Amino acid sequence: GIPTSSLDDGTRLPAVGLGTWPMDDAEAERAVAEGLRLGYRLVDTAVNYDNETGVGRALARSGVPREEVVLTTKLPGRHHGYEETLASFEESRRRLGVDRVDLYLIHWPLPRVDRYVESWRAMLKLRDEGLVGSVGVSNFTREHIERLERETGVLPSVNQIELHPLFPQPELREFHAAKGIRTESWSPLGRGPAVLEDPSVVAVARELGVTPAQAVLRWHIQLGAVPLPKSSDPGRQRENLDVFGFALDQDQLDALTHDRPRRLGGAPETHEEF
Ligand code: A2P
Repeated sequence: GIPTSSLDDGTRLPAVGLGTWPMDDAEAERAVAEGLRLGYRLVDTAVNYDNETGVGRALARSGVPREEVVLTTKLPGRHHGYEETLASFEESRRRLGVDRVDLYLIHWPLPRVDRYVESWRAMLKLRDEGLVGSVGVSNFTREHIERLERETGVLPSVNQIELHPLFPQPELREFHAAKGIRTESWSPLGRGPAVLEDPSVVAVARELGVTPAQAVLRWHIQLGAVPLPKSSDPGRQRENLDVFGFALDQDQLDALTHDRPRRLGGAPETHEEF
């Protein structure tokens, strides 16, 4: 099986997961079914991906014991607030067809809406009730996380952020490490060519005799982050799991870490995904 590491709450998190954006229900059902067959045990969806039904169907039909899978979904911006979070969670649970969500994340902080602390309190209640295994956030800055800690006394177990060689976020990763927060990486492959055809990525991959995607996924793992590569293709899904038989040395890690950061997605302070 895939190596795992412990979150601060003791949950075992696989070292690589399967991303499901962008996929509709039908594609997600096929991709997750194939992924579970190949050995993925961490599956990442969100209300806003509009594919929880397909993900849940694949899980139910997979024959994989439910307790082996870390099923993740995310609260959308339009459902921020205490009661709204509890209601949104029930809808997610129904679409996914599960009793329990293993990892529940706030998708974006939406600081202008200013309700993420209320949402966080609702997530803590869901965890206390056993309906959620682990609680976390996504796209939070250090300041947003410090506010959660100040106002509720509880840190997220995970912050899922944009992370790839073009956007390596060293300060935020260091903050996570100091606080015992696991970093998960979205768009870990940089969504394709910009990262996978980057000359230094191609060169390191060639040195190691692996594919560019494998070199990049290994970079995440050695940084202590859990990448969630999205693929609908069984061959690439398999390739993305086959990253435990080699390692980058320090020069190769450095060669992949660009020093002129370039975001591909939204910024936490301004992005409002409702
Ligand atoms: P596909 O779904 O056809 O495999 P990210 O996870 O950074 O968002 O990147 C996802 C993109 O990278 C998708 O377009 C996906 O296409 C492609 N991709 C995923 N795995 C690989 C791989 N091993 N090699 C090349 N491209 C890949």
